[in-house]
Amino acid sequence: MIRVLVVDATAEVQEHVAAALAAQPDAELAGAATTGQHAIELISVLHPDIVLLSMDDDATHAAAAETITTRFPSVSVIMTSRDGETAQLRRAMLAGARHFLVKPFAPDELIDGVRSVYRLDEGRRAAAATQLAPAPVTAGIMSPPPRAATGPAREGKIFTFYSAKGGAGSTTLACNTAVALKRATNKEVALFDCGLLFGDVGVVLNLNPRSTIVDLLPQMESNPGPLDPEFLSQVMIPHASGVKVLLAPSSPEKAELVTAEHVQRVLVALRDQFDYVVIDTWPTFEERILNVLDAADKVVVPTTLEMPAIKNSKLLLDVTSALAYSPDKVLMVLNRADSRGGIRIQDVEQILQKQFAAEVVSDGRLTTLSLNEGVPFVMTHPDAPISKDIMRLASTLVGAPLGATEEAKPKRAGLLRTVFG
Ligand SMILES: Nc1ncnc2c1ncn2[C@@H]1O[C@H](COP(=O)(O)OP(=O)(O)OP(=O)(O)O)[C@@H](O)[C@H]1O
Ligand SMILES: [Mg+2]
Repeated sequence: MIRVLVVDATAEVQEHVAAALAAQPDAELAGAATTGQHAIELISVLHPDIVLLSMDDDATHAAAAETITTRFPSVSVIMTSRDGETAQLRRAMLAGARHFLVKPFAPDELIDGVRSVYRLDEGRRAAAATQLAPAPVTAGIMSPPPRAATGPAREGKIFTFYSAKGGAGSTTLACNTAVALKRATNKEVALFDCGLLFGDVGVVLNLNPRSTIVDLLPQMESNPGPLDPEFLSQVMIPHASGVKVLLAPSSPEKAELVTAEHVQRVLVALRDQFDYVVIDTWPTFEERILNVLDAADKVVVPTTLEMPAIKNSKLLLDVTSALAYSPDKVLMVLNRADSRGGIRIQDVEQILQKQFAAEVVSDGRLTTLSLNEGVPFVMTHPDAPISKDIMRLASTLVGAPLGATEEAKPKRAGLLRTVFG
């Protein structure tokens, strides 16, 4: 049971949280307090796992969050506020909060946050319980035990796309990047739709879903050895661009049949047979997707300049740092970079403590056209700014300039040299 202590001066909020938790089999209300000071006193009596701390009622609450994370390393803090401003989010993060919820939050949002943070801080709780090491206060959490990862790619490179917040652009960027890689390099490129529950790569690329990952399962079940390359190739659908696509199951029930081990074996086979393996995922921390993140050479995280996307990207960066990923494995990509809505890029980079590795402009007309026609925009409009941005992202991923976009720069330098000697 995940035990939650709610700290909020408003009785309504306390009741809302109590009702949301009461409906869950794996979480319960440990108690309620109205001030940060009272909460600190209650912690040693109630032993909560998570303190849900409002920033609205009491100016000392940010300080209380710091005290809690320092004095009680096994307790995680989620801060709540009526105000979703960047400054507020930043204060919460600096105070050591692991998550931030804007009030009024839906019961699902609360429960998802509680579960994610609980899972995220597993390592920290274990360390606190065995007193192996003091918990870091602001620098993140203890690394959990080593995971059974697929390991670094030997031949092919794996690029996993993961929107920390749904709708941030994972599928759009993954599909177009795969096609851009194929066009620019003519190497073997695979696109694996690991959006197992509701994967939509098939729709985006207008493919006939004659076979999906589910068709690989009988062979994997009956034969523990490596996946037969010939059979894998038959199950993958060729796209007009030359990219080969492994589709997601056709329904969520079928997705249940795919285990983390299946996914891992598929990754090994793809990596052995392709130069580049581009993978689309969905926002979750479940084992199947953590394996795909582990196996990646680069994890691409599209985010937009919107508070929920930024908050979730921060949470994802906490997870990847807890999994001991090297910082250059994770690339933050600013999608719809020119749709700012008052949020400054520098502020976001400061909150995330990470710079954006690439930017992709907003182009609603072209993305909609591309979706409706089922043809990626990098194919139909290679010279559009959004396509050039994708090509730049692909160049960043392979670590070398690709395509006309990158070639254009040296040409201009050449002209300058000609003119100025
Ligand atoms: N740069 C962009 N400019 C304009 N629209 C965009 C851009 N990137 C993505 N979109 C649009 O935003 C919507 C969500 O994008 P997409 O499906 O790629 O996100 P996702 O992270 O895969 O979402 P989901 O959680 O549904 O899987 C789509 O309608 C897409 O066309
Ligand atoms: Mg998607």
